[in-house]
Amino acid sequence: MSAELIELEEEEHTSQLTAPTFKRILGLLRPHWRWMVGFLFTIALTAGLDALFTYINRAIIDEGIASRSIPLLVRFATYYGGLQLVQAALVFGFIYLAGVLGERIQYDLRKAVFEHLQNLSLSYYSQNAVGRLMARVTSDTGRVSSLMTWGLLDVTWAIVSVISSTIFMLLINWKLALIVFGIIPILLIIAVNFRKKILVEFRKSRRANSKITGEYNQNIQGVRVVKALGREDENLNEFSVLTDNMYSASYRAAWLSALFLPTVQIISAFALGAIVWYGGLESVTAGFSVGNIHAFVSYLTFMIWPIQDLARVYAEMQHSIASAERIFKLLDTQPEVQNRADAIMAETIQGEIEFDHVDFYYEDRKPVLTDLSLKVRPGEMIALVGPTGGGKTTIVNLLCRFYEPKAGVIRINGRDYTDYTLQSIHSRVGIVLQTPHLFSGSIRENIRYGRLDASDEDVEAAARIAGAHDFITTFEKGYAQDVGEGGNQLSVGQKQLISLARAVLAKPEIFIMDEATSSVDTLTEALIQRGMEALMADRTSFIIAHRLSTIRRADRIVVIEDGRIAEMGTHAELLKSHGHYYRLYTQQFKVEKEKAYGVAVPEVVPVIK
Ligand SMILES: Nc1ncnc2c1ncn2[C@@H]1O[C@H](COP(=O)(O)OP(=O)(O)O)[C@@H](O)[C@H]1O
Ligand SMILES: [Mg+2]
Repeated sequence: MSAELIELEEEEHTSQLTAPTFKRILGLLRPHWRWMVGFLFTIALTAGLDALFTYINRAIIDEGIASRSIPLLVRFATYYGGLQLVQAALVFGFIYLAGVLGERIQYDLRKAVFEHLQNLSLSYYSQNAVGRLMARVTSDTGRVSSLMTWGLLDVTWAIVSVISSTIFMLLINWKLALIVFGIIPILLIIAVNFRKKILVEFRKSRRANSKITGEYNQNIQGVRVVKALGREDENLNEFSVLTDNMYSASYRAAWLSALFLPTVQIISAFALGAIVWYGGLESVTAGFSVGNIHAFVSYLTFMIWPIQDLARVYAEMQHSIASAERIFKLLDTQPEVQNRADAIMAETIQGEIEFDHVDFYYEDRKPVLTDLSLKVRPGEMIALVGPTGGGKTTIVNLLCRFYEPKAGVIRINGRDYTDYTLQSIHSRVGIVLQTPHLFSGSIRENIRYGRLDASDEDVEAAARIAGAHDFITTFEKGYAQDVGEGGNQLSVGQKQLISLARAVLAKPEIFIMDEATSSVDTLTEALIQRGMEALMADRTSFIIAHRLSTIRRADRIVVIEDGRIAEMGTHAELLKSHGHYYRLYTQQFKVEKEKAYGVAVPEVVPVIK
């Protein structure tokens, strides 16, 4: 299933409001309660004024026009005009306040979620795709904040309109008022049902639409496979089923939407008829005035439209509550790796590391590392090699304390590393991964991320050491060049060099590189290699790599297979013993040779343009 579909499905979740969720949603408003009170008050006043206008209108018709007194008319007109100005100011006020409040609530929520996400262990991310998580946070926070501003606006408006209209109607004629009230429940039930159905059909059609997009992509990208297998006809059939689905959902949505307004109109026509009939009778028999009839008609409209809004908010609210619940659930997730209460800051980590009978498994409880013991001297360079899935990355994850051992101990400077704060470990470990991560911003900012107080000269020096300086200066803006979102304006190799420069700048005491060169071309690989060597000189380092030239340089090579150390020693020692490493070596050697002979020159993308 595509990410978009999963997202849509999540969006379709609805929830009923429960007391704890309601309390928590109210809690979000607490810091802004003054603004909130102002907001609600402004809306209530605006809606109340509407009802008052109608009351003045009635006076204009019945007293002003009927009495043919100009001064009286002028006086009413002045009230009317003055109050209109006040209302205009109030409308400006609540729209502005809704915008401000919405932004604040959204900001608070996003900040809380973001901070929380940063504290969550890696294990959380391995269960939840990050892209989807971010998209969800964005849309969920947006939906909650709009419920609490625009939704609340509609609700307040509706309630105040209905109440104030009720009061004025009762003041004018209670019997007629009761007739009008009779239609409110009918209207409410019909409107809510319509809204819900329209929303369902609308979402169905959106869903079908995104399925169609997905199908398009698949077929266009895989057009050669489709043709080769002669699948055109089947695909066409599948495709027309999808478009049919979309067509019928859109059709129903359109039909329901079109039906909705006339239905409301017919119902209100009945109420209107009652007003005219009863009012007409009363005007003949009991002197019920024209102004009164006019006022009743106006109050009727003041009730009908807000009630419709109420129905819409109600239908949408269930989705917003599901959003709120998702956010709360995320905020309630406890990080798996946490600082111990008595954790201390590590003064220095000279890089003496010991894995002492370490066992580890991920959430699925399938053993990944079993009884792993390894002692590393300060300044030593360790190469971890072995088949994919053997557990190399897991060792690095444990070392960085993204996860903690399930059994056994990892020691740094001879001390259990859970004695130290996470911060003191993370700040001393530099890591360059297979898929480098850059943040939106300039190249300079991205390198400086390694050490925030570094000067521009430091940044440049680090880039030179990492071998990134040359390609950076070919950019028009040099170090100020924007890298795009997630660094998407740069090639993988360039991103890798920048993250290397970042690691150089941070001056880590332990340096880790996990297959950092496996997805770059040979030219960049050589560059990265040079930068890496500069970084590894006299610091403890763990290198996971495939290239023999890198591995050979290590002080010690550790072969990891099935979560155990299969073999350990220097390059020369391991070759001599004709074991796992020897086999890996000869195999790899063959591959590299083939690669070297078969170098298809045009395929090598030049990184430095
Ligand atoms: N987040 C995870 N959740 C569950 N299993 C995982 C996770 N990461 C890795 N594994 C499993 O752990 C084993 C070791 O993986 P890994 O350490 O990535 O190996 P390597 O880096 O040597 O290729 C593999 O069987 C892999 O499927
Ligand atoms: Mg790996």
